[in-house]
Amino acid sequence: MEILRIRGGTRLEGSVPVSGAKNAALPILFAGILSDQPSTLRNVPDLADIKTTLKVLETLGISVSREDDRVTLDAGNLSSIEAPYDLVRTMRASVLVLGPLLARAGEAKVSLPGGCAIGARPVDFHLSALEKLGAVFEIDGGYIHGRAPHGLRGAILPLPFPSVGATENALMAASLASGISEIQNAACEPEIVDLATALRSMGARISGDGTPVIRIEGVSSLGGMNHSIAPDRVEAATFLCAGLISKGKVRVTGIDSHYLGSALEVLESMGARITSGADWVEAEAGDRLIPSNIQTAPFPGFPTDMQAQFMALMTQADGNSRIEETIFENRFMHVPELARLGARIRIQGNEALVEGPVKLSGATVMATDLRASASLVIAGIAATGETVIRRIYHLDRGYEKLELKLSALGANIRRENEK
Ligand code: UD1
Repeated sequence: MEILRIRGGTRLEGSVPVSGAKNAALPILFAGILSDQPSTLRNVPDLADIKTTLKVLETLGISVSREDDRVTLDAGNLSSIEAPYDLVRTMRASVLVLGPLLARAGEAKVSLPGGCAIGARPVDFHLSALEKLGAVFEIDGGYIHGRAPHGLRGAILPLPFPSVGATENALMAASLASGISEIQNAACEPEIVDLATALRSMGARISGDGTPVIRIEGVSSLGGMNHSIAPDRVEAATFLCAGLISKGKVRVTGIDSHYLGSALEVLESMGARITSGADWVEAEAGDRLIPSNIQTAPFPGFPTDMQAQFMALMTQADGNSRIEETIFENRFMHVPELARLGARIRIQGNEALVEGPVKLSGATVMATDLRASASLVIAGIAATGETVIRRIYHLDRGYEKLELKLSALGANIRRENEK
């Protein structure tokens, strides 16, 4: 098993390129199912979740090739409508095959994510939106099996919550439905806008993406897609937090500041000096880190995917900070691991009270999920001595060449095979 070994206490400075966004690339790769023409995508990050997605597509009979950051898909011969358990259990986003398969093939089968009852880790909003478009579902042998024997028909699709995944499934399916659809209470995340942009490059007629009401005029067929994936705002924020916790100055390139909106506001309120240009954002540590209170929320609110990284930063603030997590239950799994490094964080329900400033010192810790692992890396950069992070396959799901990028900024971090 691989580990990351970090020797903390070095100051980070310099410029680091941001990769394509995992959360944009996943739905856009699945959108390739919608066309029988070849599609080309650029700026596709090299991540474990992307490899899983390409395997799911290959299982469906889609031919896939990858060269550097360019992925070519040819879905001319769709030979299966089933995303199998072995792949889905490692990546919940596989549920995004449902909309495109129902629209293109009239049938889709996707394993329920491993260990999750439909109620406990729900996809109910996805299913009810697709049902409104004419699909019928049954749960059979651990699979969600959907059929649309008479094709999909445009409909009003009100979402009870602006779910990112449900918006994406609805958007892809409605693009090939007959007639007009309107997604109400849609997610407004930049990754939704990127998906809509990719779909438009295929000939889809979509407007209103980036707002809570998305209008889709269905078309009878879609062409191949030609698209470059938008930058990863979560990766960018992770580097900015790593720079600030080291009292350094880090510039992320290939991204403009609107992707980072609320995160930059919080960093500024914490005393960071933020500057930006057309395709870069820089954060320089101020004289001291000021505590802050954040509440995660759908875009344009503070992203839940950045909560853990900001928590690590808050351990060094000059006073107590508070984080309220409103999107996911049980998203404080990084807290006990941060505590092993010396953090003092109290959890009350969905709130975490982060005491600052505390002295962090290196220890062996375990990554528990993707963003939680990133918070351990950030804390390790500030800790005295050596931090060893185990189970880094979580990090590899969402960060491309993380240790190389951080080393280039001056961090003392390396990947090793555990003896
Ligand atoms: C996506 C992101 C994830 C991010 C999340 C919130 C991808 C691949 N993943 O996940 O990194 O943390 O958005 O920004 O893009 N819900 C239901 N029923 C549903 C769907 C969702 O109750 O049918 C609930 C979820 O349990 C959760 C909330 O809605 O509490 C938000 O989930 P959602 O926006 O759907 O997240 P994902 O699309 O899974």
